[in-house]
Amino acid sequence: MINVAIDGPAGAGKSSIARFVAGKLGYIYVDTGALYRTVALKVANCGLTAEQKEDIEALLGTTTVGIEFVNGEQRMMLDGADVTDSIRTPEVSMMASAVSAIPAVRAYLLNTQRRLAAENNVIMDGRDIGTVVLPDAQIKIFLTASPEDRATRRFDELKAKGMDVNYDDVLADIKTRDYNDSHRAVAPLKPAPDSVFADTTGNEFEQSVALIESIINDRLEEVK
Ligand code: DC
Repeated sequence: MINVAIDGPAGAGKSSIARFVAGKLGYIYVDTGALYRTVALKVANCGLTAEQKEDIEALLGTTTVGIEFVNGEQRMMLDGADVTDSIRTPEVSMMASAVSAIPAVRAYLLNTQRRLAAENNVIMDGRDIGTVVLPDAQIKIFLTASPEDRATRRFDELKAKGMDVNYDDVLADIKTRDYNDSHRAVAPLKPAPDSVFADTTGNEFEQSVALIESIINDRLEEVK
């Protein structure tokens, strides 16, 4: 199986680029942030805060996080219910960043990610895919952009969904998540030593797609 790992900070455009390129290659696109978001939603629904680590660990024992692909689209299931749309709020984003620092949460989600990559050609995006989840991925990309660019992208996405958001709040959230995601003890966001660095600051979507496609195609030639 061919495994492509794309890591990088929030809002760099990983998911839209990866989804598009995976579609062209006929690979499955796996958004691993959605797994953490689903756990975060459960934690919030149960009235817990991310500080209640032991309670969260216990909660995992009675929680089922499922990932399904419907016409190639990833759907997230929480205890049998489809929560794909409800995990996209700013509150769930922050909670996901917080609960993802808990080692038990990361361990709980590891097998699901590895199994998908073992059984399918995948483009998998996240924070630790090239470093921890799929250290043997044939292709690793670290995709980033300036915080302001990333905040603009997130702001436009949330606005398009009809959410009442303010740019400065989105930028502050991005910076907080960058800090949390890069400074946690377990599996922090960092480029794998064998990853290719891709900076999409100022790019149009098509330019970023072309950049990622060329990195993948060059590498596919080498591993053939
Ligand atoms: O990619 P995203 O913004 O949907 O991810 C939500 C949070 O989940 C992010 O702030 C950090 C965490 N996450 C992680 O720790 N490891 C991953 N592989 C993916 C996401």
